[in-house]
Amino acid sequence: MFPLARKDELYVRKIRSGTVIDHIAAGHAFDVLRILRIDGKDGHVVSVVMNVPSKTIGSKDIVKIDSRELDAMEVDRIALIAPKATINIVRDFEVVEKNAVKLPDIIKGTVKCNNPSCISNAKEPIEPTFLVEKTDPLTIKCRYCSRTMEKSDVLKQF
Ligand code: CTP
Ligand code: ZN
Repeated sequence: MFPLARKDELYVRKIRSGTVIDHIAAGHAFDVLRILRIDGKDGHVVSVVMNVPSKTIGSKDIVKIDSRELDAMEVDRIALIAPKATINIVRDFEVVEKNAVKLPDIIKGTVKCNNPSCISNAKEPIEPTFLVEKTDPLTIKCRYCSRTMEKSDVLKQF
C-alpha cells in the first residue's frame, strides 16, 4: 500500500493567515472544534486533518482556521483535552508564534464541578477549583468536594 502522503508533502495546504492547532491527540479534532464553537456556519475556512502519523505522539489531528486567532479561555480549554497541542499563529504564510498549550497544576475558571451540592455550585462567590491529578488521560479533583472528573465530564460542559 502507498503511504497517503510522502514525508515532505502536506495533507492540507498551508494557510495565509490564521491559527493552526497541531499535535492534537488523534480523535480529538472535533472536541477542539466544539471548544472553538466552530460549526461551519460562521464563514471561516477550516481544515481538519485526522490520524496523521506524528513523530512525537503516534498519530495526531490538526485543525487549521483561516483568519481567526484564539482567546485565552479557548486555549485553556484546549489544554484540558489536548495537552500536547501546539498553537501556531500564521501571518503571510509564516508561523510567527508557536506556543505549546500548558495544563496548569490547578484549574480555575474553565470547568465547573459536576457535583450539584458542591459549595462551588452554591451562590457563594467561590471559584470552582480543581487539582490536576493526571494530564493524559485527564483526571481532575475538585478542591472543595473532592469529586473526580475525567475528560468526558469536562467535555460535556464545552
Ligand atoms: N502551517 C500551515 N500554514 C502555514 C504555516 C504552517 O498550515 N502557512 C502548519 C504546518 O503544516 C504545521 C503547523 O502549521 O502543521 C506548524 O508549522 P511549522 O512550525 O512550520 O511545522 P513544524 O516545524 O513541523 O512544527 P512542530 O515543530 O511544532 O512540529
Ligand atoms: Zn466540587
